[in-house]
Formats: sequence, C-alpha cells, structure tokens
Amino acid sequence: MAEQKATNIVWHEGHVSRSKREELLAQHGATVWFTGLPSSGKSTVAFSVEHALIQQGRLAYVLDGDNVRHGLNKNLGFSAADREENIRRIGEVCKLFADAGVICLASFVSPYVKDRDNVRKIHDAAGLPFIEVFVDVPVNECEKRDPKGLYAKARKGEIKGFTGIDDPYEPPVKPELALKNAEGTVADAAAQVLALLKAKGVLSK
Ligand code: ADX
Repeated sequence: MAEQKATNIVWHEGHVSRSKREELLAQHGATVWFTGLPSSGKSTVAFSVEHALIQQGRLAYVLDGDNVRHGLNKNLGFSAADREENIRRIGEVCKLFADAGVICLASFVSPYVKDRDNVRKIHDAAGLPFIEVFVDVPVNECEKRDPKGLYAKARKGEIKGFTGIDDPYEPPVKPELALKNAEGTVADAAAQVLALLKAKGVLSK
C-alpha cells in the first residue's frame, strides 16, 4: 500500500450526502471490476454493460486499462510495482466514482489478488459495493484471438513480461461472477452482469 506522504491535511466534509446524490440519479453507486488475461474480452463486456445501462437510464462509466494508461497512468509501465500502482490509483478513482453515485465499470488485467483485494477493502470500508467479475478465458483462446497482435509479439520476445506468457496472472479466489467468455456471446455475458447488479440492489431505485 502507498504510504501517506502529505502532512497537515484535514478531511473536509461536504454538505451533500451520498444518499442525496443517489436520490438524484435514482441508482446506487458501485464498482464492477472486470479482471482477466489480455484479450479475454473484459473491455468488450464492460462497454456492452455500459451501453445497456445508459439505455436503461442509468449513469455508468467504463475505466479501461489501455485508455487510462494514455492519461492518468501514462507514467506507469508493466513491472509488478507499476501494475500495483496502476490498480491502486484506479481503485481510488473507482471509489470516487461510486461515491459520486456512478456505476463504475473497471476493466483491467489486474493480475495480482492482493491488489484487487485492496480495491475491495477500500470499497468495503466506504460502504460501497465492489463486484468482482472474472472474465475466465484460457490463455490459448486469448492467444488465438489476439486482436492487438500482442501475444504474437510476446512469443517473439518483442514484449517482455506479458501477462499469460512470461508474467503471472492470479485468478480470483471468490469472484462475485465468473464469465466463461469463450463459451457464450458478449450479450450473454453482459446480461449476466446486469442481472447481478439487479440482484445486488444497485438498480433498485
Ligand atoms: S495491469 O496489469 O496493470 O492491470 P492494464 O489492464 O492496465 O494492466 O493494461 C493491460 C493492457 O496493456 C493489455 O490489454 C495490453 O493491451 C497492454 N499491454 C502492453 N504490454 C503489456 C504487458 N506486458 N502485459 C499485459 N498487458 C500489456
């Protein structure tokens, strides 16, 4: 965990409660965390869920690994320490979005159990739902898809430390949902996530 560096800082409470914002949006803020190997389809499912939620009049927003690495996390690479910092920062961003009342859909390889559990912990401590979705696609299937050609590069040694090839991926121990994405359609997978959000009361308002 990152250490607290700044001193002489004092938490400033606002005048608007989370429940007031949730009332305004007619939904509960939450984080849905998609984890899985590169090319497992995390972002495809996340963007599909986002689209469906918006069509239902819900405010949702995708935070995607490749996209966030163009901006907020442009100074991070793929070492274990950088991946940890990537997930720590994005976990905090998700918590802010969820506190704002948004259904935040995070799509990150997030290969380490410990880092994902830390994101869960900060949500639990803030009383915000954290729903871990394992996009469970075997590496040989991901490698077959390889839409960005990155597995091919990793095999040729042009990328070092590529998750699934020469860098580890630790699957979730008890995810809220496991999507066997190799077996169903994207629409099926999105429907399972939407059903879970409903069952968890996120869409109850
Ligand atoms: S994480 O491991 O820190 O969670 P993140 O989800 O942000 O990764 O970014 C993964 C994306 O970066 C992959 O979808 C892939 O397109 C790209 N990428 C580039 N190099 C690597 C690498 N060495 N390992 C995994 N993904 C990589």
